[in-house]
Amino acid sequence: MKLLKERIRAEATVIGSQVLKVDHFLNHQVDVDFLHKIGAEFYDRFKDEPITKILTVEASGIAIAVATAWFFHVPVVFAKKSDSRNLDQDTYTSEVFSFTRNNSYLMKVSRRYLGSGDHVLIIDDFLANGRAVQGMIDIVHQAGASLAGVGIVIEKGFQEGGSQLREQGLKVSSLAIIESMDENHIAFRE
Ligand code: G4P
Repeated sequence: MKLLKERIRAEATVIGSQVLKVDHFLNHQVDVDFLHKIGAEFYDRFKDEPITKILTVEASGIAIAVATAWFFHVPVVFAKKSDSRNLDQDTYTSEVFSFTRNNSYLMKVSRRYLGSGDHVLIIDDFLANGRAVQGMIDIVHQAGASLAGVGIVIEKGFQEGGSQLREQGLKVSSLAIIESMDENHIAFRE
């Protein structure tokens, strides 16, 4: 997505060689008009699939998933990372290890909101090592649902998540894939 790449080039900050900071429009403050365009782009890429649910994980994925769901007119289900009193006890659960945070958490989705009749599009903001997406795929399988594909805003192509998912035969559609980056330069995969 040309506009996204232009914004990353012009506005993102690279921390070290691994972390891209875009929290003024995507991860902390959210540019809703831009998110609308992102939603439209995901719709264009997956509109031929009979999608019934969009699945993401809290927190940053939610806004992107909602912007996309406006176009599909389907509900968004977001996996929870922490236990809360108002979460059903009857959940699909998957353990996810985060390299960025160097810890594991349990991703949970109530059995009420995903079932064998669903055709699911997974949406997330970043794809790095792919563990969060693998956790969501695990939950889709537990539900007996089918998977339309995975839509990612920014994939870090120099980390292994994207290639592992594509090797599994999944449709992974990333709006920008970063091949390499440092403080002075960001190179995208064409
Ligand atoms: P993985 O799922 O691909 O294996 O990634 P990892 O566990 O390493 O990522 C952990 C968190 O860090 C995720 O957010 C992910 O979106 C985010 N992240 C990974 N790489 C980058 C990056 O280069 N820039 C930014 N801004 N974020 C990155 P999270 O824990 O789910 O947090 P949040 O959604 O609550 O913000």
